[in-house]
Amino acid sequence: MNVVFLGATRGMGRALARRLAARGDRLFLLGRDAADLERSARDLEARAGAAAGSVAVAKCDLLEPDGFAPAFDLAERSLGRIDAVVVTAGLMGRQEELERDPVLARRVLEADFSGTVLFCEEARRRLLAAGGGTLCVFSSVAGDRGRKPVVLYGAAKAGLSSYLEGLDHRHRANGLRVVCVKPGFVRTGMTAGLPEPPFAGEPEAVARRVERALDRGTPVVYAPGIWRWVMLVVRALPRFVMRRVGF
Ligand SMILES: NC(=O)c1ccc[n+]([C@@H]2O[C@H](COP(=O)([O-])OP(=O)(O)OC[C@H]3O[C@@H](n4cnc5c(N)ncnc54)[C@H](OP(=O)(O)O)[C@@H]3O)[C@@H](O)[C@H]2O)c1
Repeated sequence: MNVVFLGATRGMGRALARRLAARGDRLFLLGRDAADLERSARDLEARAGAAAGSVAVAKCDLLEPDGFAPAFDLAERSLGRIDAVVVTAGLMGRQEELERDPVLARRVLEADFSGTVLFCEEARRRLLAAGGGTLCVFSSVAGDRGRKPVVLYGAAKAGLSSYLEGLDHRHRANGLRVVCVKPGFVRTGMTAGLPEPPFAGEPEAVARRVERALDRGTPVVYAPGIWRWVMLVVRALPRFVMRRVGF
């Protein structure tokens, strides 16, 4: 499978890219730091036993939508047909920090909602023009319910999840399979230093689950899987309970 991957340099993206490379998928990496991208490309080549230079890269920043089309042009030139686009890139800030700093709040809202949606729109156009494919995007359980610690980040992810659901309904019959990944709390750089809730997961376990979902075209996948049941309960809690609890 030929995969365009935004966000493979760290965390869950790195774990998933390693699995895809190891099984022989051809990857084209997008990200905002050229040196990081090159390091990740060489790491993936080594893990796949592939020739040096076989994993190509291009710069792409979620906060700069004008760069999306040129980045996809380079990916198409390198891969030929694109079978799948994976987006694990995202930005989080603690709620207290975001309330203090409107500039950071704007960056989180733009990266996780409008930037990601516009990137997906470019992916949609390319995949549909090629006859179909899979778009797999990391949203979050934070988008499933308005909650005190993730008001702004959660709002961006709620919008993203809603967009991905609509996109799947609209275009599945045309060959576009949309996979919305909703991680719970996973130990990565993004969550370093945050208090750990029960059911915290590891990036490798998430990657295993997402690889399966990517192949099957599962529309929504909670990862680790237990979060599906946790969020079923959280979504059912009445508002007066949500107002009292701290999570
Ligand atoms: N960890 C969790 O508990 C958790 C829970 C729910 C949802 N999620 C979501 O899952 C996804 C992956 O999270 P993670 O924990 O693996 O995060 P991570 O380790 O912090 O990695 C985030 C990735 O996003 C990239 N990125 C950030 N801002 C970007 C921008 N403006 N343009 C392009 N790339 C950008 C980073 O690249 P740089 O190296 O350039 O910064 C990095 O590769 C994110 O969408 C996150 O919101 C995470």
